[in-house]
Parts: sequence; structure tokens; C-alpha cells
Amino acid sequence: MITQRAELTFKGNLRQGRHSWLRLTPAYSVQVVQQLLDGLDNPGRVLDPFSGTGTTGLVCAERGLTCDLLELNPFLAWLARVKTRNYAEAELAACWELAQAAVTHVQEHVDSEKVWVPPIHHIERWWTPERLATLAGLFHGLQSLHRKQQDPALDVALIAFCRVAIEWSNAAFNHQSMSFKDNTPTLFSANEQDLIVDGFRTNVRQIIASARQELSGQVNVYQGDSRRVADLAAGPYDCVITSPPYPNRMSYIRELRPYMYWLGYLNEAREAGDLDWEAIGGTWGVATSRLAQWTPDGVTVSHDGFDDLVHQIAASSPLLANYVHKYFVDMATHLNSLSRVLTPGAKVFYVVGNSKFYDTLVPVEQIYESLMAQCGFKDIKSDLLRKRNSKKELYEFVVSGEWAADKSR
Ligand SMILES: C[S@@+](CC[C@H](N)C(=O)[O-])C[C@H]1O[C@@H](n2cnc3c(N)ncnc32)[C@H](O)[C@@H]1O
Repeated sequence: MITQRAELTFKGNLRQGRHSWLRLTPAYSVQVVQQLLDGLDNPGRVLDPFSGTGTTGLVCAERGLTCDLLELNPFLAWLARVKTRNYAEAELAACWELAQAAVTHVQEHVDSEKVWVPPIHHIERWWTPERLATLAGLFHGLQSLHRKQQDPALDVALIAFCRVAIEWSNAAFNHQSMSFKDNTPTLFSANEQDLIVDGFRTNVRQIIASARQELSGQVNVYQGDSRRVADLAAGPYDCVITSPPYPNRMSYIRELRPYMYWLGYLNEAREAGDLDWEAIGGTWGVATSRLAQWTPDGVTVSHDGFDDLVHQIAASSPLLANYVHKYFVDMATHLNSLSRVLTPGAKVFYVVGNSKFYDTLVPVEQIYESLMAQCGFKDIKSDLLRKRNSKKELYEFVVSGEWAADKSR
């Protein structure tokens, strides 16, 4: 029987040192990457063109491999950089000092000071005024007391800050995308400031402990659009291990918003929509209205039955039909660009999930197989990885292939 196998999702990463620094739903599991690497004699230089929280890069770094990561979202690119670098003992000591100073700053100044809070729409839905004041005081302390630009001590402390900010928010992560918890004040509201700063210190301690782990591989993180991967990352790559967005209308921005506003990667709502429009499979805000105007612009998807599938979805929703069509056109554009930075015989592995719109099942893994063939890959196959959730027919697959170098390209 094919089961849900939680160990193959982000849940499997929660107890694993650096892999557990920030809990984000889109992350795939360490085990998937380990198993794929175990199956290769010599992975060579690895690329993850949709690197998210940097799981592929961190597993490669732990094994002494060289790995490049490409990610559209600037916050995730920052997170991956911070997770995959080595830290000197002096930097970690500076991080602890900074965290302590920020705590003192909150305890001494938070009531009197008017500190910056992130421009999140309806911020009161995220944090009560008391919690927000403590978090804003901590954040202000970290920003004003750190010693230099590009400070690794600050980066590590900011991961702990992100953790504590979400732990004390009303966001509940018990659904695939988060929702809000009940905002009723608790009996402990009075000493919440102490609990928040204690939680922050505990998080800093834990993160510093795992940051001591020495990484023997080299990771480079690029921020940009994987549809233009050949313009951004030189390669050449012997192996690609990645999990692109699935065509399931999940918006990564939605879950990442609180971190992105605090850390200054988003300043107004419109920017979230703009970024999601750039993201493959994005549908947040303005992305939806732009989708209505979208046309494939000459890029074809050579898969038997693809046009029928798009027409079937269009009968219920022309917008969703455009969504699915655009998703595969974007992936075709990505695979074409990717093929220019692969070595002959390079192995590629795409972890993807299928999806369903109304009564139409989209056989995502089969369409990937066709796209890989269209872009010049050979030995293409899909292996079933796991069942996705309780909904019937939704599964994850590893679609793999080998780059068949064609000198005329
Ligand atoms: C399923 S997640 C990858 C998760 C990753 N395997 C991890 O363990 O965290 C897909 C990622 O692709 C990124 N993405 C979407 N469109 C992109 C594009 N055009 N170029 C680069 N990255 C993109 C999203 O921001 C998201 O982080």
C-alpha cells in the first residue's frame, strides 16, 4: 500500500540540526535527497534550480559535494545561504552576545520606545499588541546593536527571531497552508514578555549548537528565475535534484509573508503579488488577474492529450485552464534553459506532485516526462514516492532523466 510517509516531507526535517532551523511546509525531506544521492556513483557538481529552504544544498554540503542553488524568493535565498555556510567560533560567540544585548534592550526600553513594526496588513491578526511590542523591541535591538553590515552573527540571530515570531503568532500550521488561531488572551499574558525573550534565547542557543556542525562541501546560492537558469548559473552540472512548485495553486509567499515583512523583503502587499507572478505556479494577488491575460507566446507542450486536458478544465474555469497551461509552458522554458548548463549524461531528478481541477486529474509526472523528451533528455521515467494527503489520487513522484547531449543545441 502507498502511504503518506511523513518522513519524506518537511516533517522529517524537524529534528535534524540545521535542516530544522525554520519550519516551512514546501520543504522536501532530507531523506529524499540522501536516497537520490546514494543511488549515484559520483554525483559531481549538483544544481537545485528551485531550492526553497536549501535542503538539497545542505545535504550536499554535509557530504562534501559542490552544489549551486537557484531560488526566486529573496528571503529563501537568504535562508539557504545562512543555513549552508560555515561559522567561526568567534562569529557564534558574537551571535550570543548580540542576542543577550537585544534581550536587555527589550527589557529596558520596550515600553518607552516607539519601535518599527512590519507593514503587514491587519497585523493585529498575527500578534496581540503586547507580543508585537516585545518582538518589535527584540528586532530593533538586533538591528541597532549588531556590529557590521553582512554580519553572520546577525543572520543566525534573525533565524531565531523568525522562529520566535511565528511561535508567538496566531498562525497555525496544522493545514497545508496556515490559518489563524483563536486570539483569546491567556492567563499568562502578563509575563509573556519574559516567555518570549526566554524562547528567543533558547532558539538562539539551539541554532548556535547546530551551526557548529562543520560543512565540508561548497554551496553557492543564486537568487533569480530558473526559466533563465543558463544566464544565472554557469555550471556545468552533472546532477540536478529539485522539487519545483506543483501546479496546485499553493502560494509560497502566503506562508512566508510574516518573515518577509519582518526582514524587509516585502514592504507592501503589491510586492507579494508581483513576486508570485514571477514564481512558477504562483497565484497570489495580482498574479491571478495577470493570468487572465496570459498567452503561451509560441512555447508548446508536446504531450498527447494536453490540449484536451486544458479544454476540459476551461469548461469549468478558463482562468484555471490558463494556470495549468502556463505552468507547463514555464517548466518547458526552464528545462530548455537548463539543458544548456548540463554535462553530457547529467542525471536530473524532479520531485513533483500531480493535481486535480474539478474532475480533471492532471498527470503532472507524465507531462514532465513528455517535457523532458521534448527538451532532449533520454532514459526518462517516473517512480512513485508517496501518497500526498487523504484526497484520493494525489501522489508524489520522482521524474528522472539523463541529458543526451546534442551538439547542435
Ligand atoms: C517545492 S519548493 C522547493 C522546496 C525545497 N525543495 C526545500 O526543501 O525547501 C519550490 C520553490 O521554487 C521556487 N520558485 C518558484 N518559481 C521559481 C522560479 N521561476 N525560479 C526559481 N525558483 C522558483 C519557490 O519560491 C519555492 O521555494
